[in-house]
Amino acid sequence: MLAGVLTTLVGRQTELDLLEQMLEEGCAGSPQIVSVTGEPGIGKSSLLAELLRRAEERGCLALRGSAAQFEGDLPFGLIIDALDEYLESLAPSAFHSLETETLAELGGVFPALRSLDPGSDEPTTAAERHRAYRAARELLERLADKQPLVLVLDDLHWADGASLELVSHLFRRAPRARVVLAVGLRPRQAAHVTEAVMDSVLRGSESIHSIALGPLAPADAQVLVGLADPAEAECLYRRSGGNPFYMLELARGLGDDKHGLRSAEDDGDVPSAVVAAIVRELDGLSVPARRLAEAGAVAGDPFELDVALAAAGLEEPEALDAIDELSARDLVRSAAAPRRFQFRHPLVRNAVYESCAPGMRLAAHEHCANALAAQGAPAAARAHHVQHAARAGDLTAVAVLREAGEAAARRAPASAARWFELALGLLPESASREDRIALLMASAETEAAIGRFERSREAVLDSLALTTDDQHDLRLQLTVQCASLEQLLGHQEEAHARLTAALDDLSDPSSAEAVALIIHLAVGSLYRLDLDGMREWSERALAVAQPLGDLPLKAASTAALAVADTFTGHVLDAEAHCSEAATQVENLSDGELGHRLDALANLSAAELYLHRYPEAASHARRGIAIGRATGQGDIAPVLVPVLGNVLHMWGRIAESAELLDEAIDAARLSANVEQLGWNLLGRSFTAIAAGDVALALLTAEEAVDLTRNLDDSLVSTNAGVALAHAHYEAGEPQRAAELLLLATGGDELPRIPDGWRANYFELLTRCWLAAGRTEQAEQAAARAESTASRVGLPLADAMAHRAAAAVALAAGNPEAAAERALAAVVAAEAIDARVDAAVARTLAGRALAAAGHRERALDELEQAVGQLGACGALRYRSHAEHELRKLGRNPYRRTSAKDATGVGVDTLTAREAEIARLVAKRRTNPEVASELFLSVKTIETHMRNIFRKLEVTSRLDVAPAIELAEQLENASARRRA
Ligand SMILES: Nc1ncnc2c1ncn2[C@@H]1O[C@H](COP(=O)(O)OP(=O)(O)OP(=O)(O)O)[C@@H](O)[C@H]1O
Ligand SMILES: [Mg+2]
Repeated sequence: MLAGVLTTLVGRQTELDLLEQMLEEGCAGSPQIVSVTGEPGIGKSSLLAELLRRAEERGCLALRGSAAQFEGDLPFGLIIDALDEYLESLAPSAFHSLETETLAELGGVFPALRSLDPGSDEPTTAAERHRAYRAARELLERLADKQPLVLVLDDLHWADGASLELVSHLFRRAPRARVVLAVGLRPRQAAHVTEAVMDSVLRGSESIHSIALGPLAPADAQVLVGLADPAEAECLYRRSGGNPFYMLELARGLGDDKHGLRSAEDDGDVPSAVVAAIVRELDGLSVPARRLAEAGAVAGDPFELDVALAAAGLEEPEALDAIDELSARDLVRSAAAPRRFQFRHPLVRNAVYESCAPGMRLAAHEHCANALAAQGAPAAARAHHVQHAARAGDLTAVAVLREAGEAAARRAPASAARWFELALGLLPESASREDRIALLMASAETEAAIGRFERSREAVLDSLALTTDDQHDLRLQLTVQCASLEQLLGHQEEAHARLTAALDDLSDPSSAEAVALIIHLAVGSLYRLDLDGMREWSERALAVAQPLGDLPLKAASTAALAVADTFTGHVLDAEAHCSEAATQVENLSDGELGHRLDALANLSAAELYLHRYPEAASHARRGIAIGRATGQGDIAPVLVPVLGNVLHMWGRIAESAELLDEAIDAARLSANVEQLGWNLLGRSFTAIAAGDVALALLTAEEAVDLTRNLDDSLVSTNAGVALAHAHYEAGEPQRAAELLLLATGGDELPRIPDGWRANYFELLTRCWLAAGRTEQAEQAAARAESTASRVGLPLADAMAHRAAAAVALAAGNPEAAAERALAAVVAAEAIDARVDAAVARTLAGRALAAAGHRERALDELEQAVGQLGACGALRYRSHAEHELRKLGRNPYRRTSAKDATGVGVDTLTAREAEIARLVAKRRTNPEVASELFLSVKTIETHMRNIFRKLEVTSRLDVAPAIELAEQLENASARRRA
């Protein structure tokens, strides 16, 4: 809704200066985020109102929304309050630039766009919610096309789960547009605000400003209350602690009470004297007016007059007189929509609500629920009151809560989980087993969707305990669901025991159910790093599945076996099973595979390890698409990491990074540690290639911390390797080698599947060489060699060649090194592992140069620079360029040709070009800032864009890029002349 404006704000100059600077930068195109925190009444909303006023003055689109106390379960309540009315006012053409899928997502969030949402009752997944948040971010970017957008989201401490998830998404991925996002929050009342949001709100960061509001300065406070008598003003200041709301409230009641602000029994946030001052305002009200005020406080803020008068038991004329009385006392004010009223301040509503007699409050909630039911209001709006008024055993109340839960499950599982929990609490003992199981299973689903896997597991176990022995299918379904949750929680042994027990209990060990259970056991063995166990279980699954004629089950068994073969080094079997599984999958429809997504997950994983990248990519993409379409984004956590890995191998680094970033965001929402771990470690490897070692360390460290307590070790082992790799690239080879050995179980790297081990022997070789431990390096290279000859996979060969080349070069045998490095190029190119091939080419260039073959070295290195540049592997390219410079050749980069991709000198904005030219003249950021009258922060923001557009990672590289562009420009000007 459009901004309410405060007349005069006193003081707060420092904060206002920061907001002014943010408006400046936001309107200039660099998105800004600010959090305004502080105790109740300290002035957050007033400061934010001033921000909106100034934004409007600058011609920005200024929108504001605020959450209301006690209504934190209405899905997206805060976001809808901020944007829906404005969206309603826009013509449909305003959304034409948004894709259908994005519009459909937005339709699920905004009632104004509901007509765009085809709707589906599929269960919710984090990946799905994440898409809705991405759609909302895109919407904000679109809204900021015409004019800069300033969006204020106030009272975050009362916001619903879905709005909080969206805000934390925007905090992590600010809209790339002229947007200023500002939130207001009472930190002490934000227990339910997710840690992620709180962290970023309170700590601030490079791109998030944080304003913690304290007491007004005494001089400003005196202006605020306008008291002539300085002694009285000083007394009021001392009693209110400089909190403007308290001062104003106490000033209203001046003379009533001269004592200290807080009394002994004060435990709430708002001093009792202030609550007392507010409640005293109710004294002297007529009975109807007092009842309407109390009923209004129960009904909501803002509240609907018709609901409040029903709750107060008043007739219309009486209620109208009462509302006039309340607004005359400025207790309530008209809200934007007709027949809706809001309290002067959330604290006033709170004080009135708390001052209600408990019996009256209960009855009022019941009346509100009935009034809303009569209006046909959505279940969520009624459920809010039912939860306060319902009697134990009240089946009507249970039905309303259940309906609210089902309506919210897909998009706001946090709210749904609460409704289901409340419904279960009200369910009478006499309720049918079926009803209780149905509610427990709904609760289990939504608890899992918000990452509360332990609570979900408990609900599943409670359901299991309620089933009768003859409910075989349901018992089996619940057992598998429980085991999957235990696997997600990393309790692999427990899951294994539960699944084997279920298998033993099965009446028909050769049934499809048996195969499904055995496949679960196979995958569980992988997580327990019992690779031989995985192979045995997979073989058993296939043997049982063969005669059944159930093709999806057969494909899933074959794919699981293909992965097991690869990981245990049985490459020939793996190749055969992989081809079989691929053929089987090709003959299955998406519908059939929707029930066996693991077939695609395991198949694409096996294809990745067998370097069948095109197949791995297409099967992973098919799995991701089916998962999305069937709301199963979390079911096969390896699909995205597999695709991310293939894109990395193919040298599509930026795409891989984008894919993994989005998947990390989604996995954070579901708190799925397994999935988050895989995506973070994949992201670390990609960040290294792209040249962002700091990010590589950050993501790898987080992956290690996250997976540390899982008792499965596949993901934690690989997280450890990613961390070692990042430390190597950060210039700590000794530490890297130690971390690598620690994570993988020692010199033989026993915890790494055979098919992949040579890769890490190559890394270990480089670590030891850089640490000056030649003997260990030679041993690691020898192990790479023996592994490669054992598994017979091309990438393992390439890695063994690279390790041998590095050792030979270090031993002063460049000829042999060149030969091995070139062999590594051939092996890697054979499987289209473009980054690895070009890295081997750099090594070949180094060796050839050392062997005195300058022209061949130059040729190899220039090829490497070109290929690594095309891959976006900037770090490895700068290594090759370094070798070129050592040979006296200045690396040549075509910049203009890449304009289409948004990089190159010509894509710099006028301001960026101005800054880049000053940097080329060796000016520091502070010097540039003072020269251009901008803040250092603004220069830093522009520098990040300049680096990205010039594809450089340091200031030193800006000068040559600018100089070259100017040379080219001058040359073409001469040609034109
Ligand atoms: N700097 C200021 N100048 C003038 N009035 C102010 C100032 N700060 C706060 N006020 C007044 O104090 C009252 C409380 O301020 P405000 O609503 O902004 O507090 P808040 O921090 O948002 O409180 P809450 O956490 O309860 O939302 C308002 O009536 C407002 O008009
Ligand atoms: Mg406020």
